[in-house]
Amino acid sequence: MSRSLGHHPLLLAFLSVLLLVASAVANSTLTQRRTIGGHQRLASPGGAFQLGLFSLANNTKWFLGIWFAASPDAVVWVANRDRPLDTSSSGVVMLSSRGALVLLDAASDNETIWSSSKSNSSTAAVARLQDDGNLVLADSAGAVQWQSFDHPTNTFLSGSWAGQDLRTGAVWSASSWRGADDPSAGDFRYVMDTRGSPELHVWRKGRKTYRTGPWNGVRFSGCPGMTTFEDLVEFQFTHTADEVSYVYRDRVGSPVSRMVLTESGEVQRMVWNPATLAWSVFWSVPRDQCDVYGVCGPFGVCNAVGAVVCGCIRGFLPRSPAEWRMRNSSGGCARSTPLQCGDDGFYVLRGVKLPETHNSSVDAGASLAECGRRCLSNCYCTAYAASDIRGGGTGCIQWFGELMDTRLGDDGQDLFVKLAMSELGLVPGGKDLVKPIPRQTCQAHTL
Ligand SMILES: *[C@@H]1O[C@H](CO)[C@@H](O)[C@H](O)[C@H]1NC(C)=O
Ligand SMILES: *[C@@H]1O[C@H](CO)[C@@H](O)[C@H](O)[C@H]1NC(C)=O
Ligand SMILES: *[C@@H]1O[C@H](CO)[C@@H](O)[C@H](O)[C@H]1NC(C)=O
Ligand SMILES: *[C@@H]1O[C@H](CO)[C@@H](O)[C@H](O)[C@H]1NC(C)=O
Ligand SMILES: *[C@@H]1O[C@H](CO)[C@@H](O)[C@H](O)[C@H]1NC(C)=O
Ligand SMILES: *[C@@H]1O[C@H](CO)[C@@H](O)[C@H](O)[C@H]1NC(C)=O
Repeated sequence: MSRSLGHHPLLLAFLSVLLLVASAVANSTLTQRRTIGGHQRLASPGGAFQLGLFSLANNTKWFLGIWFAASPDAVVWVANRDRPLDTSSSGVVMLSSRGALVLLDAASDNETIWSSSKSNSSTAAVARLQDDGNLVLADSAGAVQWQSFDHPTNTFLSGSWAGQDLRTGAVWSASSWRGADDPSAGDFRYVMDTRGSPELHVWRKGRKTYRTGPWNGVRFSGCPGMTTFEDLVEFQFTHTADEVSYVYRDRVGSPVSRMVLTESGEVQRMVWNPATLAWSVFWSVPRDQCDVYGVCGPFGVCNAVGAVVCGCIRGFLPRSPAEWRMRNSSGGCARSTPLQCGDDGFYVLRGVKLPETHNSSVDAGASLAECGRRCLSNCYCTAYAASDIRGGGTGCIQWFGELMDTRLGDDGQDLFVKLAMSELGLVPGGKDLVKPIPRQTCQAHTL
């Protein structure tokens, strides 16, 4: 700065006004020499998101979080979920000398309340709140050291990811808040099951409550509603040796949306309406009782519009007829005639959400006809289906045990269920009977 500047009273006044404005207008970055606390915030460059301390429970609990600037109640990420501060004034957010982002409690000897622990020895030079809502810690070379999108709380945003890094084992899952005033991890988790053909599952403690069904090339098998808002949002599903991930992106010019796992275990897609300044729920699962995981038990089929919700797949009968009559179908169904292993065929169950794929095997390169041949020649195979519904159905999923959580649904696909040939003869008209594939020597493959 030139020396003469400091001597000009008008310029001095002008500069101090500028400084005031600069400190009031939030910055998007935090560097080693800067801290924020109290009511100070970071704002993303375009202003869409803010990071700072916010309060719940009538200002008795304070958390470091990220929220939509236009809708501060829509908190999308929380750092110290389990350890609130008592007051806002005691909270200090800074980069530690080790390069982690930390939240300190100045009221108790700068105790570390929360830390982005995963930082490695190289120092993070800067924490930046991006316009997509991701908080990124980068080193001086610009390499990402830590990011909030890798550690979702109960919300996924446009461009954030759910799934798993198969090399490191890192899991990108959501957990619900415990209550409206309590962001600590509640009972529900939304997690990618990476086995078989990957699916997203909702768990309540140790019990599965909902599954999306596997990705079918277009959407999740059990989520026909997804395609109804494709004009607003595009979907990207990745399954490689390195990772399984699901990402959605708001289309250019579309209103912003968020996906939230609620305290009651629902997954909701909410879209911001800039005209009414409110969120609309576009889509929510579970939709009906057929979305309740395993409601009809193994080999059952759920029909939400049927007079009786649960039925058995053809060739199967209720395992416990007395309970079934009492509308408790969770025991499922059992095969009427054992598979003959060599004299079996397939019954086509049309228009279904595919059964749980956890124990299935997938070969995306096989044709559907080849899939049928493989299933027929493997005595343990109980059903098969196309893994991708595009182009009339390609790829191969084979199931080797119970068929769990199958439901009829809009826009469902064909599931080929293996039955003893004698059962297939009973199909009226035989129109859903797959032509028996030429008999092959059956070898018991090990699973
Ligand atoms: C934001 O922080 C950076 C780094 O500390 C600083 O260079 C810049 O002047 C700040 N901008 C504002 C508007 O405070
Ligand atoms: C919140 O705190 C204020 C002031 O302490 C009190 O008057 C009010 O009743 C409290 N509200 C609730 C819902 O606890
Ligand atoms: C707590 O940390 C702040 C910011 O680094 C510092 O100014 C303050 O002196 C520290 N207080 C104590 C008690 O160490
Ligand atoms: C630490 O970060 C550097 C690059 O910044 C990376 O090469 C190295 O693998 C990281 N170490 C660990 C243990 O993550
Ligand atoms: C429903 O049936 C299953 C097995 O068929 C049984 O274990 C369970 O206790 C029954 N539930 C109720 C509420 O009767
Ligand atoms: C998958 O296989 C395991 C072990 O055989 C079994 O315990 C589990 O019930 C199976 N799950 C499904 C959905 O078939």
